[in-house]
Amino acid sequence: MGITALVNQKGGVGKTTVTLGLAAALSERGQAVLVVDLDPQSNATTGLGVFGAERTVDIAMADDSSGSIRSLIREAEWPRESLAVLPSLVPSSPKMAAVEHQLVSDVVGAQDRLAVCLEGVAEDFDEVLIDCPPSLGLLTVNALFAADRAVVVTEPAAWSADGVQQIITNVHRISRRRGGSPELGGVVVNRIGRTRDNTYWNEALAERYPELILTPSVRLRAAITEAAASSLPLQATHRSGAIEAMADFSDLADTLFGSVPLDTAPLEPAQLQEAEVPGVEQLSEQLRESSHAGL
Ligand SMILES: Nc1ncnc2c1ncn2[C@@H]1O[C@H](COP(=O)(O)OP(=O)(O)OP(=O)(O)O)[C@@H](O)[C@H]1O
Ligand SMILES: [Mg+2]
Repeated sequence: MGITALVNQKGGVGKTTVTLGLAAALSERGQAVLVVDLDPQSNATTGLGVFGAERTVDIAMADDSSGSIRSLIREAEWPRESLAVLPSLVPSSPKMAAVEHQLVSDVVGAQDRLAVCLEGVAEDFDEVLIDCPPSLGLLTVNALFAADRAVVVTEPAAWSADGVQQIITNVHRISRRRGGSPELGGVVVNRIGRTRDNTYWNEALAERYPELILTPSVRLRAAITEAAASSLPLQATHRSGAIEAMADFSDLADTLFGSVPLDTAPLEPAQLQEAEVPGVEQLSEQLRESSHAGL
């Protein structure tokens, strides 16, 4: 049970593709996944095979009452036999663009409406994935206020590292205000091709964020474009490359959701004896340093 927001203010980098690839990988293992589509373009909604939905996320966002998203949850329309279980979805609609404008005039709840609407709902799922629009506007801010973890999706293209820095700064600004949440889960590099340009910008990302790049990166594959275009999971397409693409998403799901994170792995008894427990003085020194650094 966790809420992960997939973010980048840049359009077309693969936020929706990675959201749906991870949703399919987790569903293939029988995990209960909820995809919340927060983007007025509604690509995650149609990618999950849902067209013309009437009960969409804008209804809950306008209502602003605890747990109100629950009544909007429906099953994806992917072929039932393609996965062990089907992901659930809160569909979006173009009306979400108007919601963003309305939020601007709400002095009390502009930032945390989605968090309120999701209250008590995440407990019903193994993972909740929020697909964000390509902007740093109030919809993305709402996703970051609702999430435990933010995952940045980017592509190896000109200056993408600068765009990543912008969103990381905003994630940190919000997590300072929310007592450390969302944590920065890392950066997924999507659409890695074989061109020199791709290799160059991919290396630039790896150099700038050596500890943040999540493995594996997702390769550019025609099977991914085709699955999206036909509103199917990769598991239901038979194009060459689909198996390799599924493996990318499955391994990425392991990295993000599967194993105990290294920094919280239980220590062996021998390590426990050696581990230094910071004293109060050390902790307040660290706090002073981080407030000097503007953290
Ligand atoms: N690894 C990949 N291989 C091939 N095609 C891809 C890959 N990742 C994304 N695409 C294609 O690129 C296009 C943009 O991807 P996607 O819609 O996931 O980006 P996005 O960041 O969600 O865009 P937006 O910001 O508009 O919401 C889609 O047509 C998608 O099918
Ligand atoms: Mg998208």
